Amino acid sequence: MKYEYHMDGIDSVGENSTISEDIEIRIVNKSHDRRGMCIGSDSMIYPRNRFVLGDMNASHHADIRIGNFVLINSGGYFSGEGGLIIKDYVLIGANTCILSAGHKYHDRSTPIQRQELTYGTITIERDVWIGASSVILEGVTIGEGAVIGAGTVVTKDVDPYAVVVGNPGRTIKYRGEKPKKGLFERLKDLKSIVTNF
Ligand SMILES: CC(C)(COP(=O)(O)OP(=O)(O)OC[C@H]1O[C@@H](n2cnc3c(N)ncnc32)[C@H](O)[C@@H]1OP(=O)(O)O)[C@@H](O)C(=O)NCCC(=O)NCCS
Repeated sequence: MKYEYHMDGIDSVGENSTISEDIEIRIVNKSHDRRGMCIGSDSMIYPRNRFVLGDMNASHHADIRIGNFVLINSGGYFSGEGGLIIKDYVLIGANTCILSAGHKYHDRSTPIQRQELTYGTITIERDVWIGASSVILEGVTIGEGAVIGAGTVVTKDVDPYAVVVGNPGRTIKYRGEKPKKGLFERLKDLKSIVTNF
């Protein structure tokens, strides 16, 4: 079934995308630039998902970009306050939490909810499968083609084609061969060997 898009808060939707009418988009102040909530074509967002952009003037990273052929199952929470990029063919299981913002907590004399917010853009590359009830923490990039097992808490970047499970998420295997490191990563390894020598 297709829905008409009259929902406040969605800035653009591509052709053939189906967005459940009951999704919630929370924006305190809209940005005056091109940031917002943009959904590509042929994507599906199932019921009871909440997308948060917050005060877009306070966070200059606040943005949600959802690509083409993306499927988001029901009951998820998607914070785009620190920036959230979901690329093409990503599949997201039910009740997933993606958290691109948090709170500073070091000052014991101020309630945590009054302390500054922290932000970190989350990027989910093409063809990633995120299992149901996973949690993705701020600043993380999930590499192309990776699989995140059901109930995983992803605290660090995930390699392309890695299969990551558990809390905290650990790579248990790769889809096919482990990708070889690029030149930049090999130079970084060399630098750390020389520095620690
Ligand atoms: C991650 C996943 C794809 C791996 O499947 P698989 O390749 O068949 O892996 P296996 O079942 O062989 O498991 C390998 C090991 O990882 C463990 N494991 C698998 N999934 C796990 C998970 N989600 N959390 C913790 N451990 C997990 C297994 O217990 C096993 O451990 P062992 O070697 O000590 O016995 C699958 O387990 C999963 O979580 N799928 C997501 C399902 C889902 O969310 N569906 C919603 C539809 S969108």
